[in-house]
This record gives sequence, structure tokens and C-alpha cells, in this order.
Amino acid sequence: MDIIKPLLHLAFLVIFIGVSCESSALQGQSLDSQKAPKPNIILILADDLGFGDLSSAGHPSSSSPVLDRLASQGRFLTNSYVTSPICSPSRASLLTGRYQPRTGVYPGVFIPDNVFGLPHNETTLAEVLKGQGYRTSIIGKWHLGVGRNLEYLPTHHGFDEYLGIPYSHDMCPCLKCFPNNQPCFDTCWEEDVSCPLFSNASIVEQPADLTSLTTRYVDGALRFINRAAKDKKPFFLYLPFHQVHHPQFASRKFHGRSPRGRFGDALAELDWAVGEVMDFVRNLGIEKDTVVWFTSDNGPSLTRHDRGGCAGPLRCGKGTTWEGGVRVPTFVVWPGHIKPGRSHALCSTLEVVPTLARLAGASVGNLTLDGVDLMKVLLNPDAKSPREFLAMYPESPHPEDGPSAVYHGGFKAHFFTEGNDLSDADNYDPMCPSKHRKTRHDPPLLYDLLRDPGERYDLAGQTEYQSLLATMEDWRTSHMKAMTWMPPQTLKVDKFVQPCCTRSNCQPFPACCNCPRKDLEEEEEELGHQYGSGECGKEETNNIKKCSFF
Ligand SMILES: *[C@@H]1O[C@H](CO)[C@@H](O)[C@H](O)[C@H]1NC(C)=O
Ligand SMILES: *[C@@H]1O[C@H](CO)[C@@H](O)[C@H](O)[C@H]1NC(C)=O
Ligand SMILES: *[C@@H]1O[C@H](CO)[C@@H](O)[C@H](O)[C@H]1NC(C)=O
Repeated sequence: MDIIKPLLHLAFLVIFIGVSCESSALQGQSLDSQKAPKPNIILILADDLGFGDLSSAGHPSSSSPVLDRLASQGRFLTNSYVTSPICSPSRASLLTGRYQPRTGVYPGVFIPDNVFGLPHNETTLAEVLKGQGYRTSIIGKWHLGVGRNLEYLPTHHGFDEYLGIPYSHDMCPCLKCFPNNQPCFDTCWEEDVSCPLFSNASIVEQPADLTSLTTRYVDGALRFINRAAKDKKPFFLYLPFHQVHHPQFASRKFHGRSPRGRFGDALAELDWAVGEVMDFVRNLGIEKDTVVWFTSDNGPSLTRHDRGGCAGPLRCGKGTTWEGGVRVPTFVVWPGHIKPGRSHALCSTLEVVPTLARLAGASVGNLTLDGVDLMKVLLNPDAKSPREFLAMYPESPHPEDGPSAVYHGGFKAHFFTEGNDLSDADNYDPMCPSKHRKTRHDPPLLYDLLRDPGERYDLAGQTEYQSLLATMEDWRTSHMKAMTWMPPQTLKVDKFVQPCCTRSNCQPFPACCNCPRKDLEEEEEELGHQYGSGECGKEETNNIKKCSFF
């Protein structure tokens, strides 16, 4: 009895301190956090950000001071690749450490009509880290499925919490991208439901207001970090931003500010958002306990010409397995642990799971991974890459064709090339548009990427490269033999699985699926937009789809 009483007092004290820390920490003051034995992890994914888009990459009119500074504070990985030149398969590999034939996330990407998503027997980074006591949250674009009963949302894949639009924000009618009633600069998917904003498994706003979206994402991120830090729990925060995918959008603070136009505005808002999160981490005093991995899901979309992204010196862009489609700006920051510098080691987003799992103390020995632990490259810029070969699959991979390209020893061999209109149907380079149909190259095209990153000078005919080519062909053959193919998951569709705030079989579909925030609704009414008459909260098809407002 005598012992319990002081303990109760202590508990009361702890609760009291906890509460007072929350409010002060939110104001950016230091929280006296104990050194977490497991580092926090923030994985930041930009959407369609090209190799040449950041100001530090040489873009003359971009402004990305936060990302530039972050990149210079960590290990910049100059030869870092995604596994796919398009969104969903690339994201599946990032979170599972596995090539997309294994996960079945192909061909193309998930659309709002898709019945399936990332298969449940895949193990995501969030699940691995959760097993090590991490709090896990995703804020932003998931794009690995929603499902008829929302069973593919991130909360069913290891994430404790979710805030975001679950797919690309052009897969819905373009309504409002800028303040001051400025229209979106694009036509989007006008026949589909308005883009839903989910909070966990509830739609809290439909259509999502893009002009306030990034601010709300930042807010959600700071709250999550603050709660975890306060509770002294290691956390994993996955931040897949919607920027700089089309239609570009920006809040009042960034709209019309960049000399690069709307793309520049969107990039500046992304840059600001990352800065807010990093400042918060610094102010909490947990910077040295926090690893930040930044990358992009694929290369730049070039289809919208001067409103598109920039691959810098690389050939073509999104949708192709040329360098512009798959080589992305990537850096890893961990102050006090990773010394600033560049590395030219071959690496990919497949490395994220094994590297971060090991840092967190998790064993991934019973998972079939395609990635390798990259830690020694992160700690030592001169370390040899543990990755010797990388396979690159096209937008629509096929078991008989296998990977379109193979990387090895600073070289890349193209066994197939195929253009894509996301690399601009009018591109001056005949290899980029979809007019360039899938073409087998025998012998493959061979490029020396260290000397010729723009893939201009094919070396395959030169005798000195024959044994290198043979090595790459042999590896490709054994890779194809060892690969297991999950059936494609992106094919089955039903338009009534689209996320609907009111109910999925309401009339007239899809306009009835709207639960705009009241202030937004009023603003849009002034604009003359027509919304459906969905009444939030009244109609619930099941206990997970319901409407509420922030
Ligand atoms: C998941 O199940 C499918 C069969 O439905 C199988 O082909 C695949 O290999 C499984 N994946 C994992 C990671 O176990
Ligand atoms: C989402 O779920 C998590 C975990 O159950 C919970 O802590 C959080 O409060 C939820 N968020 C909202 C907005 O309901
Ligand atoms: C590995 O398998 C064991 C036994 O099935 C399981 O308990 C453990 O959680 C697995 N580890 C991971 C990292 O999935």
C-alpha cells in the first residue's frame, strides 16, 4: 500500500509533464527526449520529381532551398533507381523491397476502379518496423489500392494511421488547384468520383481541397512526430507527397511565386513542407536520432511540355526505362552518423527495406527480398556497392520478355526499349514517345553511364565490351529463371468500388459521392460548380465509410 501511493503521484506527474510537453513542443520548443535506441525514420517520396528538377541539380529557375540543403547534409546517391518508370509498381517495391513481378503490382498503376491492391501477404516496411515497436504513419499518396471494403488502405498494411488521397490527384475531376478561383491547368478524370481525403479509414472530405492539402499534411506529420516523441516511441513516418505530379497545385502562399510557373510553385510548396517537418524534428532535439531518406517514385512527366518536369542530362522521362524514367534524385540524411558527401554506387529503392530494417534491429531473413543493405555505402562514400546488378522492368512487364534493361559496373544494357507518351508524344527524341513501339535489341544497346549518362553512344558493337555484355546477358537469364510472377493485380475493375463519401451505389453516380467541407462548398457554389446532394453522416453503407469534417 505504501508503495502504490507514491507511484500514483508519479504517474500523475508523468501525465502532467506529458500534457505540458505537447503544447510547448507544438510551439517548436525543445523536448527533453531520451535517446531512442532505435532511430526514427522519415521516408519522403516526391511524385514525378525528375533528376534535373531541384535547384541543386542545376535547374535554373527552380527554388528548392530546403531540399538542396538537406541533400548536402547527407549522402547523395547519384546512381539511385526506382524499379519502375511509373507510380504504383515503384511504390510497391519501395515498401516491400521486392521487384514488381513478385508483388503483382503491374501492369500500369492502380486506378480508382480497381478491385485489388497490394496483396495482403506482402510484408511492408511499416509491418517490419511495427514489429520493432515503431509507431507508423503514412501521410499522402498511397497508390497501392483501396478495395471494395477499404481493405487495401495503408491501415491494413502496417500503418497505424493514414491521412491522404489514396491515389493520384488527377484520377478525379480537376476542381480547384489554386486560390483566387484559378482553374486547374489540366483535364483530369472527369468521369470518376471526386478525390477523397481519408483520415484512417474514413473519408473526411470529398473532393479534397488541394489548396489546403499540403498544410494539413504538414500539420498531421508534426502531430504524429510530437506524439511519438512525447511517448518516447521510435516512429516511422512515410510522406509520399502529391507534388509535383500534374495537375500542379499550390496554396495561397506559393501560388504565382515561382519564375518556373505552376510547376515551380508546386515544387516550392513541397520544399516548404519538408522544411516544416525537418525544423520540427530539429526543435524537438531528435535530429540525430532520425534518419531521413528522400527519393522520387519515377522520372518527370514530360507530356505537358513546359508545365512538366525535367530529367536534366538524362534521356526521356516517365514511362520509359531510359535513364530519365528511372534514375531519381535520392539522398539519406542522418546527422552525426552519415557524413555529407556523394556516392556513385549503384543502388535502388529496393534497398530501403533491408537497410532500414537492419537499422531498426529487425531480421528480414525470412522475407524473399531483392534489395541489399546499403548501410556501408551510406557510412562510407568510397565503399563498393553491395549491389552488383539491377534489373529494370517496363510499365507492363511480361515473364517471357523479362526486364527491359540491366545495370552492371557503371554500364546499362537495353534488351528492349519502348516509348511512352508520358515522355511527350511530341518529344524531339524518337525513342521517347509511344510511337517508338516495344523493340527488342539483339545485341542489346550498351551505354557507359559514368561517361555518358545521357545514353547517346551505343558501345555494343565494340569488341572490348563483348565479355561485359555476355556477363550481363547471363545474369539476366538467371534472374529470369529465379523470378516468381504473382498474377497481375491491376486488371480487375468495377466502377462502384470507387471511394464514395456517401454510399457507393448512390445516384447520380459519381456526383452523389461528395462531402465537401462547408467552407469549400460555399466557395465553389460562388464559382458555379455543381456538387451532388450527398448528406454526410446520414447514409452509411458500412461502419467504416462515414463522413466527418476537420
Ligand atoms: C502471396 O500469395 C500468392 C498466392 O496467392 C503467392 O503466389 C505469393 O508468392 C505469395 N506472396 C508471398 C510474399 O508469400
Ligand atoms: C487513426 O488511428 C490511430 C490508431 O488507431 C489513432 O491513434 C488516431 O487517432 C486515428 N486518427 C483519427 C483522425 O481518427
Ligand atoms: C519471420 O517468421 C517468423 C515465424 O513465422 C515470424 O514470427 C517473424 O515475425 C518473421 N519475421 C519477419 C521480419 O517477418
